[in-house]
Amino acid sequence: MSVARPLPHDAARLHVTGEARYADDIPVPRDTLHLAFGLSACAHGRITGLDLDPVRGAEGVVAVLTAPDLPAANDVSPSAHDEPLLAEGVVHYVGQPVFLVVAVSHLAARRAARLGRIEYEQRRGVFAYEDALAANARFEDGPRIFAKGDAAGEIGRAPHMIEGTIDIGGQEHFYLEGQVALALPQEGGDMVIHASTQHPSEIQHKVADALGAPMHAVRVETRRLGGGFGGKESQCNAPACAVAVAARLTGRPCKIRYDRDDDMIITGKRHDFRISYRAGVDDAGRIRGIEFRHLTRGGWSQDLTLPVADRAMLHADNAYHLPHVRIESHRLRTNTQSATAFRGFGGPQGMLGIERVMDHIAARLGRDPLEVRRANFYAEGQTTPYHQTITSFPLREIVERLETTSDYRRRRADIRAWNAENPILKRGIALTPVKFGISFTLTHLNQAGALVHVYRDGSVHMNHGGTEMGQGLFQKVAQVAAQRFGIPVEMVKITATDTAKVPNTSATAASSGSDLNGMAVGIACDAIRARMAAHVAERHQTDAGEVRFAEGRVRAGGADYAFAEVADIAWQARIGLSATGFYKTPGIEWDRIAGRGRPFHYFAYGAAVSEVVIDTLTGENRILRADILHDAGASLNPAIDIGQVEGGFVQGAGWLTTEELVWDDKGVLRTHAPSTYKIPACSDRPDVFNVALWGVPNPATTIGRSKAVGEPPLMLGISVLMAISDAIAACGTGVRYVALDAPATPERVLAAVDRQREDGGAA
Ligand code: MTE
Ligand code: MOS
Repeated sequence: MSVARPLPHDAARLHVTGEARYADDIPVPRDTLHLAFGLSACAHGRITGLDLDPVRGAEGVVAVLTAPDLPAANDVSPSAHDEPLLAEGVVHYVGQPVFLVVAVSHLAARRAARLGRIEYEQRRGVFAYEDALAANARFEDGPRIFAKGDAAGEIGRAPHMIEGTIDIGGQEHFYLEGQVALALPQEGGDMVIHASTQHPSEIQHKVADALGAPMHAVRVETRRLGGGFGGKESQCNAPACAVAVAARLTGRPCKIRYDRDDDMIITGKRHDFRISYRAGVDDAGRIRGIEFRHLTRGGWSQDLTLPVADRAMLHADNAYHLPHVRIESHRLRTNTQSATAFRGFGGPQGMLGIERVMDHIAARLGRDPLEVRRANFYAEGQTTPYHQTITSFPLREIVERLETTSDYRRRRADIRAWNAENPILKRGIALTPVKFGISFTLTHLNQAGALVHVYRDGSVHMNHGGTEMGQGLFQKVAQVAAQRFGIPVEMVKITATDTAKVPNTSATAASSGSDLNGMAVGIACDAIRARMAAHVAERHQTDAGEVRFAEGRVRAGGADYAFAEVADIAWQARIGLSATGFYKTPGIEWDRIAGRGRPFHYFAYGAAVSEVVIDTLTGENRILRADILHDAGASLNPAIDIGQVEGGFVQGAGWLTTEELVWDDKGVLRTHAPSTYKIPACSDRPDVFNVALWGVPNPATTIGRSKAVGEPPLMLGISVLMAISDAIAACGTGVRYVALDAPATPERVLAAVDRQREDGGAA
């Protein structure tokens, strides 16, 4: 049995020895050219002058391209065709690519790119939420609204009303490997692209359009990414189209690799949100009616903003039943990087809104925040704001178990006592749950393909549509194949994702990689196994159903073969040992305009308890301990899944504490390197970090009854922000709700502490 084994990542050894080959490590032909973009220094304006002679004259420069030089489509948008590869007369953010330098080396290209002289007729830039609303700068005609029942009426009738606003910052992906693409021109105008992308099929599509060629003329290969986190779902389109176009025009291989600053300045990040709420609650803290208003800054082009904002609305309930609810979402256009997919895809922001509401209710009513959360939990049979019925809801049990294993009650009391004696340092604790919907909300994306070969020696080679970005997808899917054939996982090889092997794939995103590709691989393996079984059954006059594949053997009646022997005799009998597999998620349908349907195949759940300490003199904070119980169904690989839970939690905590994006009033991103943008380091992980899997098989039909695990744990990091709020509350009398914005940087924590103390003095 290979499924459910805690095997290490298939490339773990290669990762730690440095042997793992990333796109930038692929040996390139000697005549390869290197590219760099010349960037806009203006947030919004018309280009009135473009002097590129100094760039052309720079050492090592072979060519300099602007929009009119492009052979075909000037479009790298994944959605609305509103994102040119190179600016066409108007620029929309500081960092927008305006021209493309082709040079003999990476450094020569980067040096020359700085020599361009661009003149602009400045236009007013739109940056703030209010400015975008006032200018009606949007990606849709007006706000999207999901509604159920009579929210305003119920709020009016409820005994208590709370209202507030939370500002939620964006987040830089900070994948360790930046964006990379390499184009190798082939005979007859064909193009091979190696790219660090979560979406090879889209690269194929965009490159074909950029070259004016059919998709069959372009083959895209991706062996692995050094992290994607959503930042390589659409953001590699530009580098890939750039190298393809330059390779076409020069006839030579072309490569681009963004250095860290360029990567942060050019590419999109997590959407920041401002969420306002108004809720009517009863004496037990139960929500009777609630209204949310989401504002989000999508940046200059549409990219994935609509589905991201939709997913934020779809997670405005998190784990709680909202009988009367109205959610209004404004998708605003601003003169900044085009915000894009980031682990959770809007879900984290939407979920933070309701978690804030839970804390606010608890503070208002003087109740325990966990009891308020419990009082609002879904019961089976209730419906979400988008009218999907909750058919199973394990969170009550998960939270109860975690409450016990983390010793939440006693620690909460101990912290109260400790805070009473410590005027400078204050501690806080919070337990928050996660319910995350699994499936792409664009229903047709929920499909996957696989290609499996069994060789004469019994070794198996396979490909599927997913990309490996460190999340362990390849190993999990290899385990599925090994289990189907009853062979050790070492007998199964997965090679680079390749558009020529599995076509028309979806991005590896929405946490669906192993769900979709695991099923497709399983289906392909079953087809080959059935042929092998039929042959063995015929030889031994038994039923194909009697043939067993296990422990590297194939057994039927009295016969007992090595798997390799069966492969060889099947080959000799002229039986096809190769198959494709295709899977589509059943039972989902969704009307995004009406806000109605069953967008999710199932939900993944989890809960976290975080304990923090803050320094009320400096605002500094640390996570002392985190306890997590996460639902990965019947895990395909518990070691990999626990890694995903740990990494997701830390990434979520980073988003809400130290990772702050700062733009100045001219729209220049001031935090574009690790010197100014702080991601969590090893030393920032909790001193005590207890992570366990819930382990109950998925009630929905999935591969091995597992559950997707890639994104949901990020939202467990919300408990850290709530624990910091709890610590700050200990500085005052509790009259004023802490209302801490995210990220909770030392400055914000300090300001919030001061606000509490002022009230404390007054009360
Ligand atoms: N884990 C690692 N190590 N690196 C990544 O880039 N991306 C996350 C998550 N976990 C990511 C990761 C995101 S955004 C998604 S959608 C899923 O992995 C995608 O992979 P899966 O669908 O195979 O879980
Ligand atoms: Mo993940 S944000 O769906 O790539």
